[in-house]
Amino acid sequence: MSSGVRLLVLGKQGAGKGTQAVRIARHNGVPHISTGDMFRAAASARTPFGLKAKEFMKRGELVPDDIVIGVVAERLAKDDAVNDGFVLDGFPRTRVQAEELQRLLGPGGLDAAVDIDVPTEIVLHRISGRRVCRTCGATYHVDKPPKVDWLCDRDGGSVVQRDDDKPEAIERRLELYEQETGPLLEFYEALGLLVTVDGVGDLEDVFGRVLDGVETVRQLRRSAPQAQR
Ligand code: AP5
Ligand code: MG
Ligand code: ZN
Repeated sequence: MSSGVRLLVLGKQGAGKGTQAVRIARHNGVPHISTGDMFRAAASARTPFGLKAKEFMKRGELVPDDIVIGVVAERLAKDDAVNDGFVLDGFPRTRVQAEELQRLLGPGGLDAAVDIDVPTEIVLHRISGRRVCRTCGATYHVDKPPKVDWLCDRDGGSVVQRDDDKPEAIERRLELYEQETGPLLEFYEALGLLVTVDGVGDLEDVFGRVLDGVETVRQLRRSAPQAQR
């Protein structure tokens, strides 16, 4: 896959969007844009906007569309995203957000929408055991902790459980996925952009499947460019 890729990653909570999006972005030399990470950073910096987002996040609710769209539009307008491309992680999550993204990027503005498909019982195990670095957002699991007790391998930051990785919030997040985000698979399928990848198995195997899937869709679209409207 060459650089200049413009992708988004869909999938249930805990499917491995963040894990894979970081790799895809690094592989292609493009920024990884995670709305969840941006909101968590704003919340720890205690900005007014971050504190507002935190209220929704800790209950497992979605942050309102107008706030999310404003943040993403501003980020996508930066030079690196405009010139090199991007990997969007956790956006869009509603039909309104998906339509707005199409409007922002224009026709042909996306290469693929990657759905990382993982059964609910497996994501529940992954989220309940997940731990995250406070400094860089790197993700770990109680089954596979950092080398030194709960300090990040990359920067020594403390590795903790996310506020919304508690049982009540997890239940609400998965419910909202079914209602709001799952239907976006059809939206991207209709645009000829959907790549569904089996997200169960070794991280590297999943990564290989993502790269293959994206390449296949790009080639198909090159031979039938009218597919995306
Ligand atoms: P966000 O941060 O995006 O969270 P999410 O969608 O709930 O997804 P997760 O981050 O929980 O899961 P993931 O798929 O990234 O999995 P991960 O790679 O960590 O959003 C948080 C909140 O912000 C939302 O609830 C909402 O309030 C708000 N928000 C964000 N975007 C919004 C938007 N667009 N609109 C409105 N509100 C928005 O992996 C999970 C675990 O599994 C880890 O422990 C990992 O190590 C492990 N793992 C990963 N891959 C594998 C594998 N192949 N095998 C075994 N373990 C694996
Ligand atoms: Mg994530
Ligand atoms: Zn870290």
